[in-house]
Amino acid sequence: MNFRKVNRLRGSLKVPGDKSISHRAIMLGSLASGTTEIHHFLKSGDCLSTISCFQHMGIEITKNSSIVQVKGKGLRGLSQPDSILNAGNSGTTTRLLSGILCGQHFTSTLTGDASVQKRPMGRVIEPLSLMGANIQSTLGNGCVPLQITGKALKGIHYTSKVASAQVKSAILLAGLYGDGITKVTEPSLSRNHTEIMLRSFGCEVTSNDSTVSLTPGSPLEGQKVVVPGDISSAAFFLAAGLIVPDSEICLSNVGVNPTRAGILQVIEQMGGNISLLNQKSDNQEPTADILVKTSNLHGVTIEGSMIPTLIDEIPILAVLACFAQGTTVIKDASELKVKESNRIDTIVKNLTSMGAHITATEDGMVIDGGYPLTGTFIDSQKDHRIAMSFAVAALASKGTTNIPDSGCVSISYPGFYEDLGKLIESPSNPF
Ligand code: S3P
Repeated sequence: MNFRKVNRLRGSLKVPGDKSISHRAIMLGSLASGTTEIHHFLKSGDCLSTISCFQHMGIEITKNSSIVQVKGKGLRGLSQPDSILNAGNSGTTTRLLSGILCGQHFTSTLTGDASVQKRPMGRVIEPLSLMGANIQSTLGNGCVPLQITGKALKGIHYTSKVASAQVKSAILLAGLYGDGITKVTEPSLSRNHTEIMLRSFGCEVTSNDSTVSLTPGSPLEGQKVVVPGDISSAAFFLAAGLIVPDSEICLSNVGVNPTRAGILQVIEQMGGNISLLNQKSDNQEPTADILVKTSNLHGVTIEGSMIPTLIDEIPILAVLACFAQGTTVIKDASELKVKESNRIDTIVKNLTSMGAHITATEDGMVIDGGYPLTGTFIDSQKDHRIAMSFAVAALASKGTTNIPDSGCVSISYPGFYEDLGKLIESPSNPF
């Protein structure tokens, strides 16, 4: 697909449901008793992979209307899958599901696509083995396929080397089957959607700084889950609104959980004109409408405990940094190397080919902003967030940007290009 400069972006959008929360709603709904009703579920490639895995374990999930219904069978109600479980491109499905599978009464095999097959699973194999699980990387390379035989599990206190919600969640979900309390301490707090949703399903979970503690024993009960808009999807329109001249965009009902919303703080530090309207925190996943206007930006340093709160937004923040005056430094982000692609490489190579002044470092990148970008061929490595980031960069760059694998956005945002088109075509200011 080809992308070019646009004059302005105007309008309002409701971005699709949060990917992390949608995955968790299917998982907990399957392990709960009764029906879980999920509103604004994200029907994207990754979340459909989670649905398919649970359907293969005997869970009835209907997704015909705008509401997804999960007929849960309780903690011990999954049945042995009739085939290998395939998580597709989804690291979240792979890691969280591996925690659940360790507590079952059957043996299963879990695999994924070429990208997932390269992603490190040692980070879940190690703690789950300490809990007593029988979980093996069948090729012996620390990656999927994983063969998992359910066992009686022990509660542990695990101190993780990485701030990863996927690792934390895998351990907590296995902890549902433990013989006592399971605790996870992370170097800094990662997204806490699992903790919040476990509590709302009736599980005893307490949090203290970056330590979370789960006491097993309470049955999970099916819930109505209303999924907020995904801030990681909203991020592309926030950036587009900031860098395209004469723009004003309102994104409604976006999840602004502080463990996810680091990008909002960074945009403010960069001098971006954004405001949060209609803020709601009636459940523990707060939401807001976000209004963004074209802004003069300046470079910032993004590091430390901030990184897990915006890890998926770094590709689009790197694009933003190219349009900011001065230097932006991104450090403490070596996790970028083990995402859907090696995102330090894919960001730096593609932005360099557009004319950006950007250098890769061991744990991030340094960007000297203010140099104009020119469209070129983009190799997204079929990484959805890279494709969307460069589609946005193209809107404020000279010439034509060609993204051959643009369809990969369906992993997290199937209607991305249509939604972007609505903002380009909308002739008047709707506010
Ligand atoms: C996710 C956690 C993050 C994030 C991913 C979704 C989750 O991964 O990058 O897109 O839903 O728990 P890590 O836990 O590997 O940081």
